[in-house]
Amino acid sequence: MTEQQPEAATAGGDVRLTGIGKTYGDFTAVQPLDLTVPQGSFFALLGASGCGKTTTLRMIAGLEEPTSGTVLIGGQDVTDLPPYKRPVNTVFQSYALFPHLDIFENVAFGLRRRGKKDVKKQVESMLELVELGQYARRKPHQLSGGQQQRVAVARALINHPQVLLLDEPLGALDLKLRRQMQLELKRIQTEVGITFVHVTHDQEEAMTMADTIAVMNAGRVEQLGAPADLYENPGSTFVANFLGQSNLIAAEVTGSADGDLLLSASGVRLAMPKARCATDATKVYLGVRPEKITLAHASATGDIAEGRNRLQGTVVDSSFIGVSTQYVVRSEGGQEIAVFEQNMDRDIRIAPGAPVVLHWNPAHSFGLDAAQAIDAGTGEAAA
Ligand SMILES: Nc1ncnc2c1ncn2[C@@H]1O[C@H](COP(=O)(O)OP(=O)(O)OP(=O)(O)O)[C@@H](O)[C@H]1O
Ligand SMILES: [Mg+2]
Repeated sequence: MTEQQPEAATAGGDVRLTGIGKTYGDFTAVQPLDLTVPQGSFFALLGASGCGKTTTLRMIAGLEEPTSGTVLIGGQDVTDLPPYKRPVNTVFQSYALFPHLDIFENVAFGLRRRGKKDVKKQVESMLELVELGQYARRKPHQLSGGQQQRVAVARALINHPQVLLLDEPLGALDLKLRRQMQLELKRIQTEVGITFVHVTHDQEEAMTMADTIAVMNAGRVEQLGAPADLYENPGSTFVANFLGQSNLIAAEVTGSADGDLLLSASGVRLAMPKARCATDATKVYLGVRPEKITLAHASATGDIAEGRNRLQGTVVDSSFIGVSTQYVVRSEGGQEIAVFEQNMDRDIRIAPGAPVVLHWNPAHSFGLDAAQAIDAGTGEAAA
């Protein structure tokens, strides 16, 4: 820890936002929101373009003045502190390295600016952390995009921030390098143990890296939770569609039995656990993920277990993508249902045009209020 930031060094790195909001004129970029990011966690702000992620991050950094609310870092109210007095550092999508300085000097920059003379040991251990030890004397343009990104991370971490803010830091990298850097960043975070707040519009990226994800939509946090919880129990159609892919089947609640809600979907009887239904409404969507559904040829339904949800339909499309085959099935009700089948053994009869029965464990269904738009979050999810 540095002598310049003694209070920051001992105060811990949890980030607490209370009623923090931002308006530009009569446009609300961020609705007043309350959020706590525990010390040492990897937190992702996930959402489509324009939903307010960067604005939220910039308010934590002190680069944007909130219209309302307070920012606490490690219990200290920093709302009125300028960026350089906050125990945070930010890594942006454009790494903004100094082109004329070599990698060593880029990383040493923060220490030198604070008047530190003996920087060698710290810089070397930072370069070690991001696995760039042998590149110390290169210039930024002599490194790949991923390597430059790691320099940017080292340059921020050398200041010993309590909180590292990352705004789409992997946005400029191609897909393969992105995936690699996701694991790398996660390793670095685990190693240094400080709080990371990571902004991304890539749901896979958020799920791979984060302990907790806040899904943002139009300036609001729509849902907050661990990746698996959000995936298994989305609370809105937006989250169901934005995080992975969901089949949402319009249905009416007709009764209940043994902890299950009994439903009718265009006359077809379905069930789902009452505990997994996010609404008391009678008009609901039954949600089921494509990989939870099993596909059987209509002539081979004898061994489908009792009590499973069943829908009849016709295959309209199938695409083989290696690990799985992705089917689109038109159900009796006329709705297109996505089904992902792992390629264990393929039934060659299940090709476009085949009559099929879709079946799944009712426990794998979730319920949402049908008053919401069924396609919320879909357009952006594909982007
Ligand atoms: N200085 C500004 N003046 C007016 N509106 C702004 C300003 N800065 C941002 N906004 C608006 O606030 C909203 C949120 O912007 P923000 O940059 O936080 O989005 P984002 O979620 O980071 O999007 P992206 O994924 O595209 O980076 C946007 O609609 C944007 O146009
Ligand atoms: Mg942004």
